[in-house]
Amino acid sequence: MRNLIDITDLSVEEIDQLIATAEDIIANPAKYSQACAGKQLATLFFEPSTRTRLSFESAMLSLGGSVLGFSEANSSSSAKGETVGDTVHAVSCYADIIAMRHPKEGAPYAAAQVAEVPIINAGDGGHNHPTQTLTDLLTIHREKGRLDNFTVGFCGDLKFGRTVHSLVSALSRYENIRFVLISPQELKLPRYVKEEALKSKGIPYTQTTDLESVLPQLDILYMTRVQRERFFNEEEYLRLKDSYVLTPEKLEKAKADLSILHPLPRVNEIDVAVDKDPRAAYWRQVKNGKMVRMALIMMLLGVEV
Ligand code: CP
Repeated sequence: MRNLIDITDLSVEEIDQLIATAEDIIANPAKYSQACAGKQLATLFFEPSTRTRLSFESAMLSLGGSVLGFSEANSSSSAKGETVGDTVHAVSCYADIIAMRHPKEGAPYAAAQVAEVPIINAGDGGHNHPTQTLTDLLTIHREKGRLDNFTVGFCGDLKFGRTVHSLVSALSRYENIRFVLISPQELKLPRYVKEEALKSKGIPYTQTTDLESVLPQLDILYMTRVQRERFFNEEEYLRLKDSYVLTPEKLEKAKADLSILHPLPRVNEIDVAVDKDPRAAYWRQVKNGKMVRMALIMMLLGVEV
């Protein structure tokens, strides 16, 4: 039985296969409309979500399957003190596959130890978000036609940004990716991510606090939100929250074929005027999330079309 807890649970070949399947789903949706008929997906969200939960549910419905679950911890028996392990053990009696989000790092891994069905990590605290990474990779592939030979800038909250940690890890396995890490000093990429994904493989990277000075060299800009929910200190959040605000004026210095990604939700870090710029790929990215999750559900359930 396969789980997806960390993006490195998938080989590069499997990621490339998921992207190819997602592309085929986009081109031929009717072919997949009954692929998971009779199967049930449970979405267990102990932390808020719009895109991840609803894209998982939409993905399963578009595969002909059905969905059940909860969208907040307080509407489940975890509010009565049930452990994550017991909750997942119970739900695996009803569902064929489980996508779960939890504020505690490592919760999906713990769940996978007791579950009798595949577990998908839909985001665990400030740790990992592997299905967002599949979404990001599909988006880069669709925007650029390849997954290698880029300069990629990651901007914003690189410390708590779980989407950043997973995407840095994934892209470090492709050829000739140059990483530019743009953040306030307080929100730098954690040492363990740099060690595991970059330093141990001899992959060069640069760190800066200044977005505008590096913007002209980027092929991809991955913007992120400063995440209020991860801060212990409100004053610190308020001081850092507007560290970077991408505007049409700043983008005048960027490459004509830059791709701007953002996992969303955004707060203030991308001016809405940027949405009209053809380089803004983040709404296309939202659509891609459903398609690659369809491919992932099929893979983990062993369904072939
Ligand atoms: N990108 C992402 O995880 O969005 P949600 O929090 O809305 O699921």
